[in-house]
Amino acid sequence: MTASDQHARKVSTTPGGLTARRFTVGYVVGSLSAESINRALARALMRLAPESLTFVEIPIRDLPLYNRDLDADYPPAGRALKDAIASVDAVLFVTPEYNRGLPGGLKNAIDWGSRPYGTNSFARKPSAVIGASPGKIGTALAQQSLRSVLGYLDSPQMTAPEAYIQVTPGLITDNGEVTEERTETFLRDFIEAFAVFITRVLTVLPRGG
Ligand code: FNR
Repeated sequence: MTASDQHARKVSTTPGGLTARRFTVGYVVGSLSAESINRALARALMRLAPESLTFVEIPIRDLPLYNRDLDADYPPAGRALKDAIASVDAVLFVTPEYNRGLPGGLKNAIDWGSRPYGTNSFARKPSAVIGASPGKIGTALAQQSLRSVLGYLDSPQMTAPEAYIQVTPGLITDNGEVTEERTETFLRDFIEAFAVFITRVLTVLPRGG
């Protein structure tokens, strides 16, 4: 394959007709529940995303509790998490709200990714935050606490649009179909905006620059 073939493979056209680079997005679901509405939301976003984005899950379920005593000899689960983050261009957090904050399991995963000291996996890695709740507040406070963590970790965050999704029964099917047109349009706009945001962040200055 020539260099120009490789370049062509990295380029596609968005629904709006813009030429977009291809990116891999690692998505993190903040819920460990088998019936998670946030996992359904993640599936919906993948269905609605422009073809310039490829998604891989960054799993957090098997991580032990972070302990800095292990920094000198990082356990395989912690190493796998850091490798998974390193292998993607951007990270999408899809999270519930627990007790007006981010879930402990998600915070634990971020702590693993942030260490050992000096190897913060989130630094200059573009991110976006979205979440679903049965309640009207739609994970607003969880997202706010997550945003402050990501800010500290130097991850460039998409700040608009915000997306606080109240999931009523049947709104999103198990395989990620959105049954209400208004919500479907909103989610499509959100994930298209993320594609543009990633392009902007990584085009201005590639991560290693
Ligand atoms: C909740 N839930 C909840 N919802 C909310 O809007 N704000 C909150 O602060 C909380 N707090 C909370 C704490 C704990 C420990 C649990 C288990 C649940 C309800 C929560 O939004 C609901 O269970 C969602 O379905 C969780 O998302 P997943 O797991 O379905 O993705």
